[in-house]
Amino acid sequence: MDVPGGVTSCSLIDTGVKGKTEKCIFQLLIYDESTVRVQITRNDEFSPNPYSVISSPKITNFSWEENKDFYLLKTSKIQVHIAKNNFRVIFKNASGITLNEDDPSFGINWQGTAVSSYKKLQQWEKFIGLGEKTGGLNRYGQTYTNWNTDHFGYATNADPLYLSIPFYIGLHHDNCYGIFFDNTHKSTFNFGAGNNRFSYFTAEDGDLDYYFMHDESVSDVLSAYADLTGKTPIPPKWALGYQQCRYSYFPDKEVIRLATTFRDKEIPADVIYLDIHHMEEYKVFTFDKKNFSKPAELIKHLKDRGFRIVVILDPGIKVDGEYLPYVEGKSKDLYLKYPDGENYEGKVWPGWCVFPDFTNPEARDWWEQKLNFYIEAGVDGFWTDMNEPATWGQIVPDLVQFFFEGQGASHKKGRNVYGLQMARSTNNGQSRHAKSLRPFVLSRSGFAGIQRYAAVWTGDNVASNEHMMAGVRLVNSLGLSGVSFSGYDIGGFVGNTAPHLFARWISIATFCPLFRAHTMINSNASEPWAFGEEVEEIAKNYIRLRYKLMPTIYTAFHNSSKSGIPVTKSLSIDYSFDDKVFYTAFENQFLFCDNLLVMPVESNKEITKIYLPKGDWYHLFTGERFGGNQEMLWECPLEYLPVFVKSGAILAMQSATNHADEMHDGHLNLHIYKGQGLTKQFVYEDDGKSTAYQQGHFSKTLFTMDFENNRLTIEKIATSFKSEFNTVNVFFYGTAIKSATLNEKGLKITKSNVAFLDEISSFDPLPDGSHSFKICKKIPGFSVDLNDNDYFEIDLS
Ligand code: GLC
Repeated sequence: MDVPGGVTSCSLIDTGVKGKTEKCIFQLLIYDESTVRVQITRNDEFSPNPYSVISSPKITNFSWEENKDFYLLKTSKIQVHIAKNNFRVIFKNASGITLNEDDPSFGINWQGTAVSSYKKLQQWEKFIGLGEKTGGLNRYGQTYTNWNTDHFGYATNADPLYLSIPFYIGLHHDNCYGIFFDNTHKSTFNFGAGNNRFSYFTAEDGDLDYYFMHDESVSDVLSAYADLTGKTPIPPKWALGYQQCRYSYFPDKEVIRLATTFRDKEIPADVIYLDIHHMEEYKVFTFDKKNFSKPAELIKHLKDRGFRIVVILDPGIKVDGEYLPYVEGKSKDLYLKYPDGENYEGKVWPGWCVFPDFTNPEARDWWEQKLNFYIEAGVDGFWTDMNEPATWGQIVPDLVQFFFEGQGASHKKGRNVYGLQMARSTNNGQSRHAKSLRPFVLSRSGFAGIQRYAAVWTGDNVASNEHMMAGVRLVNSLGLSGVSFSGYDIGGFVGNTAPHLFARWISIATFCPLFRAHTMINSNASEPWAFGEEVEEIAKNYIRLRYKLMPTIYTAFHNSSKSGIPVTKSLSIDYSFDDKVFYTAFENQFLFCDNLLVMPVESNKEITKIYLPKGDWYHLFTGERFGGNQEMLWECPLEYLPVFVKSGAILAMQSATNHADEMHDGHLNLHIYKGQGLTKQFVYEDDGKSTAYQQGHFSKTLFTMDFENNRLTIEKIATSFKSEFNTVNVFFYGTAIKSATLNEKGLKITKSNVAFLDEISSFDPLPDGSHSFKICKKIPGFSVDLNDNDYFEIDLS
């Protein structure tokens, strides 16, 4: 084991300190008061990852002291102690409480080329995050590897999977901190697995280069991480609708039949995917001449009916001297190579393939140009798959070379960022050709920062209850790692989905950022109508609910694009120090769009145990109020997933539409759940597809409910996009509204029954027993014409 040795010199710079130990150079850079970067290497210079972090150190007030045995660097939020004799680092909060400390003996060390940081385990320390990782919410006692891997039909405890994010959050003694280890080599994170002394992270090679973040709450730490690695821009609204995929829908007639069935059955849907059979011999930048003879016509026909087409893009380019893209890339020298200059070839769908080196700006530029082929045909989004890169489950030889922005790197350093760079190039390519439109990329592989370029999905899952629940945890964990826009294949990719499983899966996924069903070749049909009438009605109900929730969902994506806090939140974000949220029975529960508490439950359960954290909660489907801080047994018939609304919430809804761009009925339905104090909720709108919002073309209508003084105000606070809502219908839960006065005039109070899901038919004979119908009864409310004014103050009694 090699260690840094004692500090021999140290000097202040504008944004931190730099210095030397007996064997290393080091640097501590302050990004802002809550983020400090630690870099140490045995080489003469640092070797930073050029791909993940997009921010730079900011000039921040800090102090630096030299003591007898240690140096002390302080921002207003973090204190960093550095031992002079061995470069041991201790992080404390502003009041001097230890957040995280190096193991006294092993701290930073090298074992061969592998660099590690060993951290003392703190009492009752919990660990959350680390991206697309299986296992429980609390990762204590587990070890994980970051090495992007094509893992078909993975087990629900398999590791590693397709995408790596070496960022986690530690929790103990009501404090939290985040660590992002910015090293692209294969890395391992041990959270006290097989030992009771330390957690550690280690990479096979490269520098010890990590960012330490500390702030008041997990949300703040997530925002600090998002400041470093970026946020998800607001997706096109259609990408938040229902998406239908299969491997593969073909020929073109089949795609039209699919689209027609959605519209005939009035099941809302926005996206149809074209998987690999759309290509000629699986060659990227081609359409199969027989099955898709007139792609532009097909896509236009679908677009006229409100469907968007997303095509799959695999990086493997067929080695074929007659195939122009292959020849072009070869002549421009854009592929991954062996050290002797020969192109690396590996086998994927088309047979032997070469792989564009997406770490080369010229290869990215070429790929971007090539995408015009699809944009001209009318394609609206791209699905970047097999970008680990996958070579039929085999591994790319480690000596394969990556350009790595001119620095050069072997497969050992380049692999983990390959998918990230493919997504980047695809995203940029789309923006380049479809200029003012927002790109949509769905990626299987990625690394820290992927959220800037793509939504992600959790790869080739299996049609089982276990996988359905694991998918929820994967999405929750991705949300704890900067990725707000993610999802899983509804119904499961591998195997045949049982009807009840599909029904439950689609109801859970209604509250998943990416709402996409997918299944593999030769499996049974897996569309909402493929499982009989009962499941069709349940699926339709939930898909319609998703569209009714669009004002809330779209606003949540807007918020997430600003804060980096995910749309789907593990309860460990808002209830970080409530042990119960980590219990196996409750760890899958999550908050969707801040206020909807969703309890995922297996399809074979009719009753389940749920946990309501502190505060009051309203059952979404009956409006009944329940006190928090309690476990309950809850009935969960197939048609009603347990979902609750947080007290004080203002839930904004609209009428269901056939697709996201279709005009709703102009009514904004505002459901207000009695809470305490003041609740502010705005509804964000823009054109849903262009980048004009970045120039300020959006609208925001702010609703403020003052529960103490019984006053609701409505304010149009941004109006450069004309709101599509002309009326607000307000419904009050948990409070008896008797009168409402606006400008000294009384508003008409009515009592109505509100149903978030429609009644299921009474089938004859009943396929699966009778269906209860849940309804919120006699909810008082009133309507306001939004065209009348820009500011409304309504007094209630
Ligand atoms: C991979 C993808 C899957 C896709 C298939 C065919 O297995 O993960 O989603 O359908 O390839 O392209």
